[in-house]
Amino acid sequence: MLIIWFFLVSCVRTSTSTDRLGTGQSMRDGESLVSVDGSFELGFFSPKSSTSRYLGVWYRDASRNPTVVWVANRERPLQSTSGLLKFSDKGILQLLNDANTSIVWSSNISSSLQASNNLIAQLLDSGNLVVKYQHAMLHSQQDAAEDFFLWQSFDYPSDTLMPGMKLGLNLVTSLNRFLSCWKSSNDPAIGEYSLKIKPRGYPQLVQMKGSVIVTRAGPWNGLSFSGYPYAMNIYSIDFIVNDKEIYYQVTMSDRSLFSIYRTITSGTGNVLVWTSQTRNQVKNTPTELVDQCEMYAFCGSNSICYMDGNAPTCACLKAYVSKFPKQWNMSDWSSGCVRKTLLDCNNTDGFLRYRDMKLPDTSSSTYNKTMNLEECRQSCLKNCSCTAYANMDIRNGGSGCLLWFDHLIDMRMFTKGGQDLYIKVPASELAGNGHGNMKNKNVGIIVGSVIFGLIACAGTMSMIIKKK
Ligand SMILES: *[C@@H]1O[C@H](CO)[C@@H](O)[C@H](O)[C@H]1NC(C)=O
Ligand SMILES: *[C@@H]1O[C@H](CO)[C@@H](O)[C@H](O)[C@H]1NC(C)=O
Ligand SMILES: *[C@@H]1O[C@H](CO)[C@@H](O)[C@H](O)[C@H]1NC(C)=O
Ligand SMILES: *[C@@H]1O[C@H](CO)[C@@H](O)[C@H](O)[C@H]1NC(C)=O
Ligand SMILES: *[C@@H]1O[C@H](CO)[C@@H](O)[C@H](O)[C@H]1NC(C)=O
Ligand SMILES: *[C@@H]1O[C@H](CO)[C@@H](O)[C@H](O)[C@H]1NC(C)=O
Repeated sequence: MLIIWFFLVSCVRTSTSTDRLGTGQSMRDGESLVSVDGSFELGFFSPKSSTSRYLGVWYRDASRNPTVVWVANRERPLQSTSGLLKFSDKGILQLLNDANTSIVWSSNISSSLQASNNLIAQLLDSGNLVVKYQHAMLHSQQDAAEDFFLWQSFDYPSDTLMPGMKLGLNLVTSLNRFLSCWKSSNDPAIGEYSLKIKPRGYPQLVQMKGSVIVTRAGPWNGLSFSGYPYAMNIYSIDFIVNDKEIYYQVTMSDRSLFSIYRTITSGTGNVLVWTSQTRNQVKNTPTELVDQCEMYAFCGSNSICYMDGNAPTCACLKAYVSKFPKQWNMSDWSSGCVRKTLLDCNNTDGFLRYRDMKLPDTSSSTYNKTMNLEECRQSCLKNCSCTAYANMDIRNGGSGCLLWFDHLIDMRMFTKGGQDLYIKVPASELAGNGHGNMKNKNVGIIVGSVIFGLIACAGTMSMIIKKK
């Protein structure tokens, strides 16, 4: 009996499964859309030990343990199985609570749509749920999805970053796409932690708890996040900054694998990897802060964090002294350092080179993609409040210019793998300092996965820097 039942169920499944919903059609709890290649499903679900119903997209893991990657009605659960997904007369995709036909969730599409009876909602093989005109065709790979799709779930991420999604801002429409963890494993409502791009200065990726930065990826240097080189073995990352957009995008370079990054309730994350053919899970890597130097501004201003064995240590930049020496001596570093000697603010000032750095918080920086390092130095010298400079991009010997103003926050030094940072000091501090090179003399450190799965995925496997 059981076998026949399974047979029937799977028959029914394959014969009725579709990847799209047209105007005039509706989808009830118990029904679903399945992407053409079978990887993703859109339907109603209840988290683990909850009875609330949510509309969501999940990855159809071979272990029959679906991984929810997107939730529509995160904040407004349905209390019964009477939910209904359909297009409104105006061509807006709506989730209704059938009992009283109140709108629980809807896609945001401008109301100026023409021919709205010609729309479909389609679940793509990427896991993206899109709304588009039924007969619209992409003419090239380069067609911007934003222009082509009237609405897409990739623009409203939940807690999961998937290949093809843009994490960041569309400056034209003010859309800000970021990840936010679930409130708990039973509640997909927006939780405390988020992962987003902070656009001020040179844009950077930060993890926040509420409105407070917990940790920060170093600025993108063309190859990786500054200070965290990684082997691009299974995917590649693009970072785009222009007048219209600022975003990170991950692309699978190994097509035999599929990978996502998910933020979890406690603020850390998981990198999940499956084989794309069989959808068997091959890896589930938790990402976490490897050490205290990863905590945002652990050493306060103008001070560098080192790991000395397992213990973090802070050291003022040269030409700076601790602001509150007593606290500093008791390893309370949060007050940071202040200038010991003021800058001359003429061209007698000079720079000290710090190697292997995680570059400071770029929200107080400006950038120029075309300047070279010497022009960068000159521009920093000309402006009295400029305190440091560095190359923006380290590829091909380095290009572009980052200039920092006022305080330098959240720096750390590695034994290997960081970037050169040039700190402005008065002439008096330059004397007797060799070639102006500052190097970490501390013991070896281990750089592993930081909070950002983007790094950790390859990072935990391939970039352990050996202790001396
Ligand atoms: C419809 O349902 C929602 C919640 O499910 C409830 O808050 C609202 O009062 C209901 N409206 C009517 C008219 O019953
Ligand atoms: C939809 O648009 C309205 C008005 O522009 C906005 O207030 C609302 O937050 C949007 N909803 C979503 C899910 O983006
Ligand atoms: C801090 O400690 C150093 C040596 O450990 C000592 O020379 C200095 O006087 C101390 N400063 C204060 C303010 O306690
Ligand atoms: C630079 O400024 C310092 C301090 O203000 C001053 O002593 C020095 O003479 C100046 N040098 C030049 C070349 O202007
Ligand atoms: C970058 O620097 C170059 C050379 O100094 C300058 O011509 C250009 O206008 C700068 N670009 C921006 C965006 O400031
Ligand atoms: C120095 O740079 C800052 C930040 O870009 C700017 O606001 C200020 O006007 C500059 N000062 C001078 C003297 O150019």
